[in-house]
Amino acid sequence: MNNFVFCSPTEFVFGRDTEKQVGDLVVRYGATNVMVVYGGGSAVKSGLLARVIEALEAKSVSYVELGGVQPNPLDTKVYEGVELARRRHVDFLLAVGGGSVIDTAKAIALGVLYNGDFWDFYAGTQKAKRALPVGVILTIAAAGSEASGNSVITKAEGKIKISLRTDYVLRPKFSIMNPELTYTLSSFQTAAGIVDMMTHIYERYFTNTTECEVTDRMCEGLLKAIINEAPIVIKYPRNYDARANLMWAGTMAHSGICGVGREEDWASHHIEHEVSAMYDVTHGAGLAVIAPARLQYLIPYNADRIAQFARRVWRVHVSDDTRQMAQEGVDAMRRFYHKLGMPLTFKELGIEHPDIDKLVDNLHRNKGEEIGSFNKILTREDTRKILEMCQ
Ligand code: NZQ
Ligand code: ZN
Repeated sequence: MNNFVFCSPTEFVFGRDTEKQVGDLVVRYGATNVMVVYGGGSAVKSGLLARVIEALEAKSVSYVELGGVQPNPLDTKVYEGVELARRRHVDFLLAVGGGSVIDTAKAIALGVLYNGDFWDFYAGTQKAKRALPVGVILTIAAAGSEASGNSVITKAEGKIKISLRTDYVLRPKFSIMNPELTYTLSSFQTAAGIVDMMTHIYERYFTNTTECEVTDRMCEGLLKAIINEAPIVIKYPRNYDARANLMWAGTMAHSGICGVGREEDWASHHIEHEVSAMYDVTHGAGLAVIAPARLQYLIPYNADRIAQFARRVWRVHVSDDTRQMAQEGVDAMRRFYHKLGMPLTFKELGIEHPDIDKLVDNLHRNKGEEIGSFNKILTREDTRKILEMCQ
């Protein structure tokens, strides 16, 4: 196990009706003038936005609204938000939605205090040191941005999707998590969220670092809980306990706890981010195609670890043939995604003729010539083969 620092400073306020506490929470974290950021309409339609505004008004907190954040959020919305926040002297960002809304709010929080182009942080030419405080009301169990210090934004020009990773600066002050707010999700978005949270665990589980038994078992336990709850929410979207367990699993999957003491990998995410940048597909659905292909590709390089995953998570029968066990684990993963209604190929994802040359070029231009680490550093040749396996 490696040395580590683990700090997850967000206050999680979990359960029924918790959004009613938003007025108290923003005041506690020093807000006087809040920017309420939301998406394309689900929070308006469900009445959540109106309840949030009511809670702010009840505490005499001023606010300004910024709606219309789209999935795979764009830099253009961030520029609009930074300009509005400066003009209206906003001192707190409240994200009401999922990863796209939260990541946009985080980017605005950074941009407002920076005397330059916020994209500098994503391009890596500036290090993020300070941001306005961000609070969250989560409406989808998926990206884990409610617990992470990350923000993923796409530059519209050139379709460059970058994940900015900060240790603390962008961690939300609080995240309100009412599982009932996720009842209105489509089964597609629910399933995509499930795949995303599972992949956040894989990116940390498939590591070169050995002897991390506690972290391993936490990852396996979380995955098993997700595998148990997922079919229930697909069949019964209003099952409170299943929604609640998944919501908390999504948060734990990306809070950092699954990575302590070891090297992380993130190759599946790097590859998928290029796919969702170019074709604007749902991130979790893209991962359902990419992550199993990538794991399959790695079997010859680390069959033992993938076989352990197959045995402990997917209950694959133990045999001397670890490659076969690993293959059965990948097959079980694919079957599970298929049952959830997720795509397994580019075609099922809605991409008839993927431009693999361009995906490979963009990937290695944006993420470096070598990506990943788990027993095999991936070069252009490897990522091309992985992408070809997805056809
Ligand atoms: O825009 P609205 O109308 O709100 O609809 C959204 C959107 O269409 C809808 N939705 C959300 N909550 C709903 C709902 N519909 C009905 N009822 C509800 N309660 O769901 C759709 C997807 O929303 P989005 O915010 O895009 O989903 P998600 O949370 O999966 O976020 C995906 C984004 O997060 C990034 C992804 O790359 C992608 O851009 N990620 C962010 C990470 C982070 N910051 O730590 C890590 C992840 O790996 C990921 O890359
Ligand atoms: Zn993800």
